[in-house]
Order: sequence, then C-alpha cells, then structure tokens
Amino acid sequence: MNQSFFIKTYGCQMNEYDSEKLNELLKFNGYKASKNFEESDIAILNTCHIREKASEKLYSDLGRLSKFKENKAKVGKKMHIIVTGCVAQAEGDEILKRNKSVDYIFGPQNFHKLPKVLNDSKSEKVFNDFLCEDKFSSLLPSTGKEVSKLVTIQEGCDKFCSFCVVPYTRGAEFSRPLEDIYAEVSSLVKKGAREITLLGQNVSAYKSEILKDGKKVKVKLSYLCEVLSKIIGLERIRYLTSHPIDIDELLIDQHKINSKLMPFLHLPIQSGSDRVLKKMNRKHDKKFYLDLIKKIRRKNNSMAFSSDFIVGYPGETDHDFEETLDVIERVKFASSYSFKYSSRPGTPASIDNNYVNEKKADVRLKKIQEVLNNQQKEFNKSFLGKSSNVLFTGKGKKINQFVGRTPHLQPVHVFSNDDLTGQLLKVELSQLTSFSFHGKLSN
Ligand code: SAH
Ligand code: SF4
Ligand code: F3S
Repeated sequence: MNQSFFIKTYGCQMNEYDSEKLNELLKFNGYKASKNFEESDIAILNTCHIREKASEKLYSDLGRLSKFKENKAKVGKKMHIIVTGCVAQAEGDEILKRNKSVDYIFGPQNFHKLPKVLNDSKSEKVFNDFLCEDKFSSLLPSTGKEVSKLVTIQEGCDKFCSFCVVPYTRGAEFSRPLEDIYAEVSSLVKKGAREITLLGQNVSAYKSEILKDGKKVKVKLSYLCEVLSKIIGLERIRYLTSHPIDIDELLIDQHKINSKLMPFLHLPIQSGSDRVLKKMNRKHDKKFYLDLIKKIRRKNNSMAFSSDFIVGYPGETDHDFEETLDVIERVKFASSYSFKYSSRPGTPASIDNNYVNEKKADVRLKKIQEVLNNQQKEFNKSFLGKSSNVLFTGKGKKINQFVGRTPHLQPVHVFSNDDLTGQLLKVELSQLTSFSFHGKLSN
C-alpha cells in the first residue's frame, strides 16, 4: 500500500509555496496525501524561525508526534518524522538532540531531496546546504486548480536587518530565471488561476537576464510584471514582500500603467524612528519611506499600503515609539502586522542588552494594534456603498455563498445561485462586518 504523508506549515507564504511543491513531489513519487498526522506514515513539519514563539511551536508539536510514533511502533508500524523549513536550517543538529524521534532534517532549499532520502536507509540525517538552483529545477508543476496562486520568484535576502534570521535561514538572494517563472505562471493560468502573487523575502530585489537583439539585458521586477500581464486569462498580479530601498521608478510606473498589477503594496517600515531604523540596519530613514509613499500615490492615487512593525526593539524609547505612531498617522495603512521584538540567536540585535521592559513592549504592541485596527476599519468604511471589482476564489461557509477579494485584498462575501469561482465581477459593497464585506452583484 502507498505510504501516506501530512505536512503542517508554519510561517510565511514562501513556506506555503514550499509545502505545496513538496506535496506535489511526494505524490509524484507514489506517496498519498492524508488529512492529519494521526493517519500518516510520514509527518512533515515545515517550520518558521522568525520569532521565538514560531520556533517553539515545533518542539511542542514534536512532543505530540513522538507519542504517536511510539504508539505506532507498539503495533509494529513505522512512522517517519521530518522537519523542514527555517528552524530545520537554523537548528538542525539541536532538533535531533532535543527530540530523538526525528528522522530527517531538511533546510528550505533541500526538501526536494526527500523522496530519494526516504528510499535510502543509509542516508545522512541533516540536509542544510544552500541550493536554490537545484531546488527550483527539481520542483514539479502544480496540479491544483485554485484561482489565486503563490509563485516564489526570489529566495533569500542580502539585507541583514539586525533582528532578522532570514539571511541565515534562506541564504543569499537568488532570483529564478524569468522564463521559468513565465512558464509556471502560464501553466497555472491554464489550470484556472486568475491571480498570481509573486513571492520573495525581498521580492523587489528580483533580477534576471533576457536576450534582446542577441544581447543579454538585465531586467527587474517591473519587467517581470509587464511580461506576465500579457498572459491571457491572468487578471491580477501582486508581489510580496518589498524592501523600500529596492522600489525603483520603473516599478512605480508599472503601478500606473499596468492595470493587472493591483494597487496594494506591502511595504514594511518596521519602525518610524531614524535612530531605531539605523540600529536595525534598514538602510533608509523615516523621510525616505514617507517620500516613497507620496511618490507612489502621486502616480496612482488608488494605491493602498500595509506594513510590518516591530515594537520593543532594544533601546526603543517612548520618543522612538511616538515616531512610529507618527508614520502610521501620516500614511494611513489599509492593514498591517505588528510584532513584539523577539531576540533571535545569531542575529546582531541579540547581543544588544538594552532590552525594553516586557510590560512596556506589551503596552506599545496593544497601542499600535489599536491604531492600526482603527485605520483598517476607516479604510474599509471608505468603500462602503461603493462598487468594487471582486475576484471570486471559492465557496464561503454558508450555502450558496462565495468569497472573493477586492483589488485591495479586502474579503467580500456574496450569495449567488451560480458558481462564481474564478470570475471577476462588479460587486456593491453593502455591509461591513469587522474586516470583511458583504455585497451584491452589480447589474
Ligand atoms: N522580508 C520582509 C519580512 C520578513 S519577516 C521584509 O523585509 O520586510 C516578516 C516580518 O517579521 C518582518 O517584516 C518583521 O516585522 C518581523 N520580524 C522579523 N524578525 C523579527 C524579530 N526578531 N522579532 C519580531 N519580529 C520580527
Ligand atoms: Fe529580514 Fe530585513 Fe531581509 Fe526582510 S529585508 S528578510 S526583515 S533581513
Ligand atoms: Fe519564517 Fe522562514 Fe518565512 S523564518 S517567515 S518561514 S522565511
């Protein structure tokens, strides 16, 4: 009988993409996807190392899984426990020491080796090389028919923000060749995708080479967006996540001229204080960020923004925090993520002992989340009673209900007797419930 597997995914969309690819690879090699760990012969944890809480989840899940494994062994059944992703990269050997039931460890650029390793009983246990090219060339086309798909176009990061583990867990910046991405997106569109989100830890640093009049020419994210927008059937393009210093004029222009590029940009600033930004090694100050937002809005006044914020970075004073609130007040974000600083082993910030008192950081987090939530509500309110183009991605929880997203990623629920999945339709946004809309199809 075919062996079954289950993958649990933590962390960012890049991990989601990797899990989908691992899923395809295992199925191609004769393994069967199961619905949960209990029913699976191979348990895979695709992990995230970004904050302490995220990585500690791995160890609590491993505790549970080792019990399953023991119980299965009692009835003569074998179970493999496999850890992939960013904790695997950062703490490979330590995981094996902390939990003896783990069989294999694969860093984010090694999971493509899994099917081969499962057939080789003499194999080593830890795979943690940086192998972007090898990985992407081993992955298989997706068989899924989802309307909105993620496509990793760039992996790794060379920015080395002082708090962040990503440059160590995902390695140096690597961009996939433009033609490979084009082929993947075209094939997804043929299967039913209407929206593509181009992914990278630092997607605005994307670069590739093309042949133009027999000569090699360097191209960036703006060119990729332009080329992809010519694919018939593809309605929407998004990209995530950008670093402010890599947003260039050509990309800003795309937001004006490319109607398939959505007017919504996730552009993390992390802090509004120049002093903290400098300590974070973010390579830009508050003014640069605010000017960039202004410049983008001047080109396209429907642009909306989201950001990530860290509160309680070592040495952050009340004044620094006020500066962050000031940025929020000036920009007016459509939505955002905010986190309490988490010290990560091996990062430059982790040796800064100027810790912000835990309670103070909690108060700041609560405050910033309150302000950001209010801004999100205000942003949503401004759409109430108006009509918007909604791309329907699938069924809602209720009978005959369908769910879609506006260009600004706001969720919309609509009732219809016809299946709306995959359609881009005008909807009257008639009701707003906390963070999503209910609407009616426009005539
Ligand atoms: N590449 C993206 C983000 C990667 S991680 C960028 O440059 O913005 C996603 C978010 O996690 C970051 O934007 C940051 O806000 C948060 N983050 C990263 N490291 C963190 C840490 N040590 N403590 C708290 N939040 C962190
Ligand atoms: Fe981390 Fe900074 Fe790179 Fe983003 S840009 S992944 S925050 S190092
Ligand atoms: Fe987490 Fe790795 Fe993504 S640390 S946020 S899964 S790049």
